[in-house]
Amino acid sequence: MANNRTFTMIKPDAFKDGHTGAITKMIEDAGFSIKAMKLTQLTSETAGEFYAVHRERPFYNDLCAYMSSGPIVAMILEKDNAVEDFRKLIGATNPADAAEGTIRKIFARSLESNAVHGSDSDENAAIEGSFYFSDLEKIK
Ligand code: TYD
Repeated sequence: MANNRTFTMIKPDAFKDGHTGAITKMIEDAGFSIKAMKLTQLTSETAGEFYAVHRERPFYNDLCAYMSSGPIVAMILEKDNAVEDFRKLIGATNPADAAEGTIRKIFARSLESNAVHGSDSDENAAIEGSFYFSDLEKIK
C-alpha cells in the first residue's frame, strides 16, 4: 500500500463556498479513486490534535479556529505516487504562489483559508486517514 494512498480534506471555506462537487470532480479527473469519504466537523480540540505538528507555530490557534469553523469533507484517495501527485494537483500552500489550474489557485480564498489539505508523506497519509476513518470505513 505504501506510495499509493493519500489523505485530503475539503476545508471549511471551500465547503461553505459550494466547491465540494467541483473539487471532487478535479480529484477524480486527475486519476485518484476515492477509498473513504465523510462530511464531519472538527472541534478546536480535534483540529489541534490533527495539526499538533504546528503547535509551536504562530498561526496554530487561528488554524484550529478556522478548521473547526464549519463542516469539512475528509477523503482517502488512491493512485500511483498519490502523495506527490496530489500535492501537485492542489498547488502551493499560499494560493498566491500556486500554479495555474491547481485546486488552491482556483478555489482558495487565502493562505489561511486554502480550500484543501493534502498529506505531505506516506507515513502522514496513513496516520491522517486513520484519524478520521476506521478500517471498516476504508475500501480495501
Ligand atoms: P503546512 O503544513 O505548512 O502547509 P500545507 O497545508 O500546504 O501542507 O500548513 C498547514 C496549514 O496551516 C496550511 O494549509 C495553512 C495554514 N498556514 C497558515 O495559516 N499560515 C502559514 O504561515 C502557514 C505556513 C500555514
